Amino acid sequence: MILENKLGITNQVELAKAEERISKQKARQLFDSGDIYQVDVGTFAGLAFVHAYLFDEIYDFAGKLREVNIAKGNFRFAPLMYLEQSLKHIDAMPQGNYDEIIEKYVEMNIAHPFREGNGRAMRIWLDVMLKKGIRQVIDWNLVNKEEYLSAMERSVVKDIEIKVLLKDALTDQIHDRALYMKSIDVSYFYEGYSAFRTAEL
Ligand SMILES: Nc1ncnc2c1ncn2[C@@H]1O[C@H](COP(=O)(O)OP(=O)(O)O)[C@@H](O)[C@H]1O
Ligand SMILES: [Mg+2]
Repeated sequence: MILENKLGITNQVELAKAEERISKQKARQLFDSGDIYQVDVGTFAGLAFVHAYLFDEIYDFAGKLREVNIAKGNFRFAPLMYLEQSLKHIDAMPQGNYDEIIEKYVEMNIAHPFREGNGRAMRIWLDVMLKKGIRQVIDWNLVNKEEYLSAMERSVVKDIEIKVLLKDALTDQIHDRALYMKSIDVSYFYEGYSAFRTAEL
């Protein structure tokens, strides 16, 4: 099925390309404009800001809580009934060190608050938390796609794999524009989008 979208596109290949192009432009603008500093760190409001920033031109649901239950693989994300309660809990979780930040990220993934685009918005949200909390970010280019997706799948049961995997990719280059743009490309690559380079849009 194809997601209803503001672009009036009914061809799913065309929608994927338009979504990638437009939202990557937005991801680039988020950094270049300095708007990324407006992201409320470690809260659902902050994540919703990022999600809306990326997808507002494309989807009505940008930045808004999903209204359906969703699953990936064998895992069902937070049932709608508990979603708001779960997000309140996540807002209150500590974010003072690396382990706490990853634990928060894992919980937010379990919540999966949006209809689509959770992975891409959440990785930006995670880097903002790491930047503020420990003055480091992830160099996503150092994180292998299959290992990442497998560690995320596993994280709902045990978070040790994702903690180890991402720790090995931490960098002090928190203001490096090229690293940010490359990380966006890699983040999109995890989700199957690789037609455009963020830095060239
Ligand atoms: N089986 C799974 N269990 C838990 N989390 C998963 C699973 N499969 C994928 N994920 C997480 O969900 C993200 C994809 O969510 P999605 O809303 O489709 O985001 P996007 O549209 O940006 O791809 C992945 O990046 C991964 O972190
Ligand atoms: Mg997706």
